[in-house]
Amino acid sequence: MTYHYATLRRPISDETRAWVSEDFPEIALIRNEDLRTKVIEAWSYALCCSGFARITDIPPDGNPGSPVLKTGTQADHVRGVLRYARAIAREFEETYPQVSIDWDILIAGAACHDVGKPYEFDEENRARWAASPAQAGAPTFRHSVFGMHVCLTVGLPDEVAHIAVGHSFEGNHMGVSTECMIVRQADHGWWHVAGALGLIREDTMSGLASNLRSR
Ligand SMILES: [Fe+2]
Ligand SMILES: [Fe+2]
Repeated sequence: MTYHYATLRRPISDETRAWVSEDFPEIALIRNEDLRTKVIEAWSYALCCSGFARITDIPPDGNPGSPVLKTGTQADHVRGVLRYARAIAREFEETYPQVSIDWDILIAGAACHDVGKPYEFDEENRARWAASPAQAGAPTFRHSVFGMHVCLTVGLPDEVAHIAVGHSFEGNHMGVSTECMIVRQADHGWWHVAGALGLIREDTMSGLASNLRSR
């Protein structure tokens, strides 16, 4: 058997694009129109490669099953990470005016860091991987890697695709860009602080940090 599941399951519709903008309003912060349009296209493409209609339909997990937010959807996480990355960058830029941050790459990269999740979280994909993990891997591609594929497919620049692939464990095996490092800190910090504040199901927190205690 040869697998060809990493592809569109349905055409990308304007309804999907509108839902992406509605569920992820911070995408509007990207100043460059071409970049902003391609970020919307990336999420729309990723959703149409899956059974999910919109970002708010994806469960609020870091990786499938661990860690899991007690409430909300994936939109709460990706929106939070984008705003958190912006806060980190602002803090340093205001205190150290000599630093140089590519704001559009930062915001677009934060917006796309988990764009591969529709594929990795898709129920059909997960059932197939669970039934036959040795066929094509389980998952065949983690969301970071599939996210990179999505970014490049819709024509986003390498800098944004690099943030998608480098934001998670894969980033431990490469030199990461400045903007990727900010997104990594925002993403990992977001999960750890959410855990400390009691927002994550305790039975799903073991992968986060051994010193983490939930209020
Ligand atoms: Fe991620
Ligand atoms: Fe994330």
